[in-house]
Amino acid sequence: MKGWAWPERVALVTGASSGLGRAIALALAQKGARVALVARRREALEAVAAEAAACGAEALVVPADVRDTGQVERAVAQVLQQWGRLDVVVANAGVYVRAPVAELTMPRLEEAMSVNYFGAARVLLAALPHLRRQKGGHLVLISSLDALTPLPLDAPYVASKAALAGLGDVLRQELRREGIGVTVVYPGRIDTPMLEGWAVPRISAKIPAERVARAVVRAVERGRGRVIMPAAGRLFYAVRLLAPNAADWLADRLRLTGWPEAIQAQQTSEGRV
Ligand SMILES: NC(=O)c1ccc[n+]([C@@H]2O[C@H](COP(=O)([O-])OP(=O)(O)OC[C@H]3O[C@@H](n4cnc5c(N)ncnc54)[C@H](OP(=O)(O)O)[C@@H]3O)[C@@H](O)[C@H]2O)c1
Repeated sequence: MKGWAWPERVALVTGASSGLGRAIALALAQKGARVALVARRREALEAVAAEAAACGAEALVVPADVRDTGQVERAVAQVLQQWGRLDVVVANAGVYVRAPVAELTMPRLEEAMSVNYFGAARVLLAALPHLRRQKGGHLVLISSLDALTPLPLDAPYVASKAALAGLGDVLRQELRREGIGVTVVYPGRIDTPMLEGWAVPRISAKIPAERVARAVVRAVERGRGRVIMPAAGRLFYAVRLLAPNAADWLADRLRLTGWPEAIQAQQTSEGRV
């Protein structure tokens, strides 16, 4: 939203106890916004609240599990009770769930969907009536570059992030006339604890969480519908749009640093090696 007066605004960020959520909450705090910090780990949230306070911002710690509708609704109610308004909602809480096809089960798919899709949708739906009543605000949905350029082994994660992106695109179309902006964010690999210990293709260098957070704040200020980063990600996406079969062929043959072990593990579990 152009001309956004941050010190008058209230933001709610899920997954604020770590990684990108923490960085977004602090970037908003640095702008002067009041920030509600939502995640399950109270102590980690309190540490982030102390960092926000050091920037001179007010922060509210709201422990909640996004898989629980009652907890999410109470979290939104607590923010409204504390500050009487809600302007920006960042649905960021997420989990990485990998399952090669041999291990692809309904519980693995549901695990990813329960946090990354239904968890985010739950937060957005709980907050939306208040934004609509205020006749303005902004929703940010943290998807992933994987939703645009899927790669093998990650079906549960990719599917949940693609579903989230679809939800965001329709919300943007429907809410445009109500003064509510919607940004879907598609980051490539970010330097956070999420992927520690996993072999993932190193298509580009890990992006610092603070850089993604600054891009998110800019997107809200400028009313941008999507953020795709880094630049290499936009290139891969363009290739996929222009030549989808070539992109599938490439994904099958990609042998990038750190990935062969994961592919080999998959083939072993399928009895192919
Ligand atoms: N890291 C990457 O390379 C990358 C790339 C693209 C997109 N993303 C997306 O960026 C977002 C942030 O991920 P990150 O990299 O910052 O990972 P992270 O450091 O592991 O943080 C994940 C956050 O989600 C919260 N969370 C997980 N399950 C939750 C639940 N059931 N209820 C409430 N909060 C929950 C965690 O808090 P608690 O444990 O305290 O609940 C934590 O704050 C995710 O949506 C992720 O998919 C990450």
